[in-house]
Amino acid sequence: MSIRLSNGTEIPIEMHKVRIVQKTRLAPIQERLRAMQEAGYNTFLLRSRNIFLDMLTDSGTNAMSDNQLAAMMQSDDAYAGSESFYKLEESVAEIFGYKYVLPAHQGRPCEHLLAKTFVKPGHIVPMNYHFTTTKAHFDLAGGKVLELYTSEALNAQSSCQFKGNMDLDRLREAIEKAGPEHVSFVRMEATTNLIGGQPFSLENLHQVKALIEPLGIFLVVDASLISENAYFIRQREPSYQNVSIRDIIREIATVADLFYLSGRKSCSVRGGMIATNRKDLYEAIRPWLPVYEGFFTYGGMSSKEIEAMAVGLREMTELEVAGASADAIKYFVCLLQTMGIPVVTPPGGLACHLDAMRFVDHVPQSEYPAGALAAAVYITSGIRGMERGSVSMDRDAEGHDVPSDMELLRLAVPRRVYTMSHYQYAADRIKWLYEHRKLIGGLEFYEEPPVLRFFGGKMQPKGEDWGATLAEAFEKDFGPEC
Ligand code: F0G
Repeated sequence: MSIRLSNGTEIPIEMHKVRIVQKTRLAPIQERLRAMQEAGYNTFLLRSRNIFLDMLTDSGTNAMSDNQLAAMMQSDDAYAGSESFYKLEESVAEIFGYKYVLPAHQGRPCEHLLAKTFVKPGHIVPMNYHFTTTKAHFDLAGGKVLELYTSEALNAQSSCQFKGNMDLDRLREAIEKAGPEHVSFVRMEATTNLIGGQPFSLENLHQVKALIEPLGIFLVVDASLISENAYFIRQREPSYQNVSIRDIIREIATVADLFYLSGRKSCSVRGGMIATNRKDLYEAIRPWLPVYEGFFTYGGMSSKEIEAMAVGLREMTELEVAGASADAIKYFVCLLQTMGIPVVTPPGGLACHLDAMRFVDHVPQSEYPAGALAAAVYITSGIRGMERGSVSMDRDAEGHDVPSDMELLRLAVPRRVYTMSHYQYAADRIKWLYEHRKLIGGLEFYEEPPVLRFFGGKMQPKGEDWGATLAEAFEKDFGPEC
């Protein structure tokens, strides 16, 4: 929620009380430099104890509610037929209107099951934009991911309210070219992660469905960030201004033929699921669930998390929960914007995104500007963000680097975890870094895994050790303890 103060400024306001806290620590500058060097300039490889504010992701890092924690105490650990599963089934029916539920341990196994069942060699899978794990699974199954976004999607400084929309002409052409029988399905990702957490509109979703349904192609929605997408629809799509988040989510589910989600985001748990009303789709996937995940009634999730998910699904339909991180992100983005720092606009869901192409425009894309910026932000602030650029793209079949469409540093805003002073601190240190941005150099890999290299790859400064120079400049201004 946001609230307007009497002087006219708008601030995000917490619609909850904090009763449990977790200590954090700001390691001194030289310790942070050492930690970054040991982590191979890859923020994934940092240890949590060296991190002050963890903005790597909103995945599995949200604050759970008292009701979720209470539900966990009442779980049923039966291997088969667990009562916890039936509570989840009830919640899915109530919120989405879906009859069939397949639990999975998180989002990517759902993608694996979809790939295994529906993506065949030579097939195309049109989508508004890919997500890293989605693309990895669909590629491995021999499919070709086609990103059919609109012309505004990759414009980092835009006022377009729905940069997650699908371009209908491109979709029509792609299906005509491949032939509908070679289309696995069409995937729409809610609050499109890799292009800055940007939503699709319900109008666009309806149009996509109207185009593909007569051709016998089904619509899959990646609903990991569904509650934020619904929040943006309510704010930005005029005909939905007075519609509740719950009804918007229900309408999205009604348009989709099948939903899957990582429960680690909007529902604040650690789990995932596929849900649908289509018996044919359900029955095609179902046999593989016990092979890869677990029995039908737990699918690799702990029964405690299943209980918490049943509650989390209901809670994410509340206005103040759906807006908890979106409004904090808006505040954070606006703060940086007033300081002249290049950020992705309009503010989206899940994170504030720094535009590395503009922040460090002297670092060529072949030297991973977003990766370098992620390392530099950690060194100067103790804040861990995530590279979402060319490091996050794997090499092509010939072994060449694939330049990413955008070079972003994502500073995720986990739901109900950080407060305004944290965003103010972050913005202040980022401002200092922007003023000293010429000290930031490029990176090169010295250890590079063959798939999803961003998770475990190690890099080093290209040329001189710019990390040490940056730390020295910081220490001069703030002293050794900051
Ligand atoms: N789809 C979307 C849109 C996601 O954002 C994610 C995960 C997944 C699928 C995969 O789900 O991690 O539960 O297996 N996003 C995380 C992130 C990793 O940090 O953005 P998962």
